[in-house]
Amino acid sequence: MIPLARPNIGKKELKNVEKVFKTHWLGMGSFVYEFEKKIQAYLGVKHAIAVSTGTSAIHMALSSAGVGPGDEVIVPSLTFVGSIQPIINVGAKPVFCEIMPDTLNIDVEDAKKRITKKTKAILVVHYGGMPCDIDEILKIGKKKRIHIIEDAAHAFGASHKGRKIGSFGELACFSFDPIKNLTCGEGGCVTTNSAKLAETLRRKRLLGISKDTWMRYKNKRSWFYEVVTEGYRYHMSNINAAIGLEQLKRFGSFIKKRKSIVKEYDNFFKNVKRIEILRKNYSEIAPFNYTIRIKKNRDKFIQFMQEQGISIGINYIPNHIQPLFKEFSKKLPVTERVWKEIVSLPLFYDMTKKQVQKVKYCVKKFMEEKL
Ligand SMILES: Cc1ncc(COP(=O)(O)O)c(C=O)c1O
Repeated sequence: MIPLARPNIGKKELKNVEKVFKTHWLGMGSFVYEFEKKIQAYLGVKHAIAVSTGTSAIHMALSSAGVGPGDEVIVPSLTFVGSIQPIINVGAKPVFCEIMPDTLNIDVEDAKKRITKKTKAILVVHYGGMPCDIDEILKIGKKKRIHIIEDAAHAFGASHKGRKIGSFGELACFSFDPIKNLTCGEGGCVTTNSAKLAETLRRKRLLGISKDTWMRYKNKRSWFYEVVTEGYRYHMSNINAAIGLEQLKRFGSFIKKRKSIVKEYDNFFKNVKRIEILRKNYSEIAPFNYTIRIKKNRDKFIQFMQEQGISIGINYIPNHIQPLFKEFSKKLPVTERVWKEIVSLPLFYDMTKKQVQKVKYCVKKFMEEKL
């Protein structure tokens, strides 16, 4: 079976994890701080706060921006549930909005219409690693005094007008889960240029304690700590950071290869009947998944591909039709139409030429013979 995604991991990651074992300091410590420094340098941002998952990064970002009970957060419905649960976790209300069919990114005009007095934040998703219309969204945020929080779970390595995503907004959240562009095994981080927000985030990730454990042990009064804010146990461990540090060294080649597969798919599928490829800017995208739209028989297509030994994904089932979020549900005609057309095809660094060929061949075969 050709998997949908697979991390490129090996001896180098193991060796770095072994180094952590030798220190006997498995939790948050020097590996995490080094990882944060490397992320800051790579993105060109002042602060990177490493945490346990992308979901916890979003939760912390919302909480640090002061989003809470009675507030509304505008968010596209077509995203992973990891974007939505943190909104519920801080006691706010998700206000689902539409996406653009050609990119699956937020429909800014639609989002604008949903702004009320209660809107405290807009959570944008850079779908598939392709930046959304971030200039326009940041402008709205400034004008209406609304926080703009970027769910950049898909977009580590993506850029906009020469600047890396996560380096110029207020708060951006990355995921380093097993199948993301960069993996730590599990992990995430929040980036910001605000020293004040960074301080809050650092405290919140460690139960609201004003100095983390490592610093306490370096301190003469090593037993002393103060709890100064509401917080969570969301910090990253040295083990996860050790994996991420090795991944970062090879990250350039990861993105290069992912992009070359995406270009090859695009060039091929643009000439295949009944397929809509998503609009992309190859100089900005850091591709996480490869999603296409099929106008008819999507589910039959999935079954056919699986029978050929090819894994297929759906990114995503809209959240406004999920049982838990029904109470927040309003009709979203574009999202409801488009999600029935989307499928994601295999995309990962170690994909062989033969595997790419097989995916291309099977998709074409279905479109020409089986539809
Ligand atoms: C768009 C989006 N947001 C948030 C998340 C949550 O990240 P994590 O799985 O690291 O919690 C994901 C993970 O797949 C995601 O795709």
